[in-house]
Amino acid sequence: MSYYEIAKECFVDELNLDSYVELPSSVRAYEEMEMAFEKPFKMMLLYGEPGTGKSLLLKRLYEKKKYQKEIHFIESPLLNEEEFFRKIFNILIQKPMPKGTKVDFNTFVEYCKVIKGQREIIILLDEAQLYPKKILEEIRILSDTGVLRFVIVVHKTTDEDVIAKSHFKTRIWGAVELKNASKSELKTYIHQRLLRYNQFEIANQIKQKNIDFIYKVTKGNFRACSKLMYTTFEIYQYYEKHDPSQFSRDKFSQKFLEMAAIAIGAIHV
Ligand SMILES: Nc1ncnc2c1ncn2[C@@H]1O[C@H](COP(=O)(O)OP(=O)(O)OP(=O)(O)O)[C@@H](O)[C@H]1O
Ligand SMILES: [Mg+2]
Repeated sequence: MSYYEIAKECFVDELNLDSYVELPSSVRAYEEMEMAFEKPFKMMLLYGEPGTGKSLLLKRLYEKKKYQKEIHFIESPLLNEEEFFRKIFNILIQKPMPKGTKVDFNTFVEYCKVIKGQREIIILLDEAQLYPKKILEEIRILSDTGVLRFVIVVHKTTDEDVIAKSHFKTRIWGAVELKNASKSELKTYIHQRLLRYNQFEIANQIKQKNIDFIYKVTKGNFRACSKLMYTTFEIYQYYEKHDPSQFSRDKFSQKFLEMAAIAIGAIHV
């Protein structure tokens, strides 16, 4: 693999705990969630703009807590009641729901009453903004039993957009917001992601001037930043193959960075 290809791979947008970078804001959000877990919450809300690291935070919580607590991570939304019932059945009974079984929602509620005090189950629900209203209502009823506790994750693009927040207003025990990174966090993020794959040279070549530009066009959003870096190294790869005279191996190319920003639509010309 070429040098730039490896650098590119450092910025693939996936939920991989190996590429987790410890940043002050990520640590703070994790600790807030962790503290909440020790309290008798029914529902917790984790929210923030797309690309601020909510899913990765959930994944970390899940991986770290799964040996101490009964905890489940529902990554992709359950869009119909049948799927949802199947999942809840599986979580409560700890066996898959037999094919052809018809379950009445109230059975779950009654079952929760039976096991109350014996089990406490945390469900991490990612992408909650995509759930149909009916299921959200059932989640609220289940959380009221005190047996199933939900961490509801929603992305917001505007303040009014936190649908779950208004829907569950009275049940939400606490809310944690993830925000875009600060400029210094973004710098750490970029360097650390490169260092994960031993890209010391490139990491050292990225200077404050480059960081200033990256921060300006991405506003500190992790996903936008990864996309920008990925595209920059893709441009490097192209020129390495077709016209290596266009860049120096000793200095990070601000020009390629700007080309990448235009390519991903982060700046307009
Ligand atoms: N602290 C971090 N360290 C390393 N990578 C991170 C960190 N936070 C976020 N990322 C990366 O940023 C990208 C976006 O994160 P993630 O998918 O968790 O965002 P999200 O808030 O769930 O977005 P959406 O609302 O669109 O679902 C992912 O590739 C993720 O791995
Ligand atoms: Mg997500």
